Amino acid sequence: MNTQDQLKKAVGEKAASLVKDGMKVGIGSGSTVYWLVRALGERIQKEGIHIEGIPSSIQTEEWAKEFGVPLTDFATTKELDVTIDGSDEVDPDFQLIKGGGAALFREKIIAQAAKELIIIVDQSKLVEQLGAYALPVEILPFAWERTAYEIEKLGCVPALRLKEGKPLVTDNGNYIVDCPFEKIKDPAELDQKLQKIVGVVETGLFINMATSVIIGSPEGVSMKEK
Ligand code: 5RP
Repeated sequence: MNTQDQLKKAVGEKAASLVKDGMKVGIGSGSTVYWLVRALGERIQKEGIHIEGIPSSIQTEEWAKEFGVPLTDFATTKELDVTIDGSDEVDPDFQLIKGGGAALFREKIIAQAAKELIIIVDQSKLVEQLGAYALPVEILPFAWERTAYEIEKLGCVPALRLKEGKPLVTDNGNYIVDCPFEKIKDPAELDQKLQKIVGVVETGLFINMATSVIIGSPEGVSMKEK
């Protein structure tokens, strides 16, 4: 395992240790979350804790099944105790860019449903200003070129995300455009402007949602709270 994977494992395990018996847990997506799901499965097996999770992607759902994490859904559960998820960028105010794994829409649903949003990252995800990572935006396939044209007016050249030469289709049947804004001065304002464009389903900007961040670095794991 390389150093970055070791850090992802460490933060995933730390977050899993914070989950209490009886909790309903939103489970994010990505390679860091993989370690969270694994560690939750271990706790369920060894300690016999009872939790229920709502996954934010088909991939996470598969991991949950693999590691024995019981799942529920929003038909039976409207509120979550905590959501734990990775991130592509985290700024000093805990504003986030997410969506590298194309799961941002469901991730935002489980983030909003939870009392707490714990973000798990290795130190490489910490930035002074959001934007070096191209902002993922989920858009409807219908007239996607027109939606991308409107996004371009906000100051970037959006790129349609491809998979094996074809447009990547999200778990919700939509497309993703990656938007290299480079420096996002006012993430909340940009989010509002993007949300107003017809055809935009959701943005990868998670504004005022994260309540704590668990950071993995070679010196160890630390947790920052708002
Ligand atoms: C998926 C996400 C992920 O949380 C984000 O891309 C981080 O992934 P990783 O843990 O693999 O670095 O937002 O849509």
